[in-house]
Amino acid sequence: MTKITAAITAVGGYVPKFVLTNKMLEGMVETNDEWIVSRTGIKERRILKPEEGEGTSYMAIKAANELIEKRDLDPTEIDLVIVATATPDNMVASTAAFVAAKIGAKNAFAYDLLAACSSFLFGMSTAASYIQSGRYKKVLLIGADKMSSIIDYTDRTTCIIFGDGAGAALFEPNEEGLGLQDEYLRSDGNGRQFLGMDAGGSIMPATEETVKNRKHYIYQDGRTVFKFAVSNMADVAEKIMQRNNLQESDVAWLVPHQANKRIIDATANRMGLDSSKVLMNIHRYGNTTSATLPLLLADFEGQLKKGDNLVFAAFGGGFTWGSIYLKWAYN
Ligand SMILES: CC(C)(COP(=O)(O)OP(=O)(O)OC[C@H]1O[C@@H](n2cnc3c(N)ncnc32)[C@H](O)[C@@H]1OP(=O)(O)O)[C@@H](O)C(=O)NCCC(=O)NCCS
Repeated sequence: MTKITAAITAVGGYVPKFVLTNKMLEGMVETNDEWIVSRTGIKERRILKPEEGEGTSYMAIKAANELIEKRDLDPTEIDLVIVATATPDNMVASTAAFVAAKIGAKNAFAYDLLAACSSFLFGMSTAASYIQSGRYKKVLLIGADKMSSIIDYTDRTTCIIFGDGAGAALFEPNEEGLGLQDEYLRSDGNGRQFLGMDAGGSIMPATEETVKNRKHYIYQDGRTVFKFAVSNMADVAEKIMQRNNLQESDVAWLVPHQANKRIIDATANRMGLDSSKVLMNIHRYGNTTSATLPLLLADFEGQLKKGDNLVFAAFGGGFTWGSIYLKWAYN
């Protein structure tokens, strides 16, 4: 019997219209364009304004609809919709269920997946497992985050980094051996003290006090997160190469989480990869959390060739991190 692998067969992406530039941030907090570009590689990011649309689902639906249109897909054939996100529309009702309803995936079941900046990477593993098992034929994985909803725009250590966006990928069975080949996924909950949001969860429900003390915004110990991200992302990418006997020349593209250009460069260096093989759009969007990986696929889709070896790598809050080796399935 032919082995069934799980391939990505279509992608879509969406970023909101409003562009928040470094220059604009200079008027909001004490920072400057030169500092932001040299420390992070970010020049601008997109923000979802209420006059354009509301909530993470707005962008997720846009990205999914682009995929559906491009692929000429009948949404009633979708079996499962997963929305990878750290900023769901609402704390209880599944954002994915709302997205599925709005895109016409009326035969699908749907749920959200939360692993901070590694959500999409871990979602790839989940989507691929459903396909490989033969249980389902079409799994739509969407990475979407409205980071602006949890960012304190008076805190210069976080507001310069994050942006809003969404990307989608369709997983289907493949009999040519293309698609997901190997994964190495990790987590360490001791890291949660360094990156997270104090209030609004079950430990610290919302009160007047928590609002007054600005506890509903992301905090991070940037230096510590940076240290862990640099070493862990490079470690797992190197491990996936070694485990699959991949030389630098075998890897067509590194698809790295877009948190900081210096973290991306360090990962590429450890892999021995030339910068021309590194997909990057951090200068335009900043860190869109769950959306960085699928937005890269959507932006660079035209350059990806059937059979190309892609190495994905991500690091995020929790801590969570990992790497996936995938063979691209279409031109
Ligand atoms: C946040 C980050 C860009 C800061 O860069 P850094 O080189 O580590 O800078 P530091 O935090 O050491 O700060 C250096 C100085 O710049 C200052 N600084 C911080 N933010 C600044 C800003 N936006 N503009 C100007 N100066 C700033 C600091 O206060 C510090 O000043 P000091 O030396 O007088 O104390 C970097 O740590 C980072 O990218 N961390 C990982 C973040 C991340 O990936 N988060 C998401 C995980 S997926």
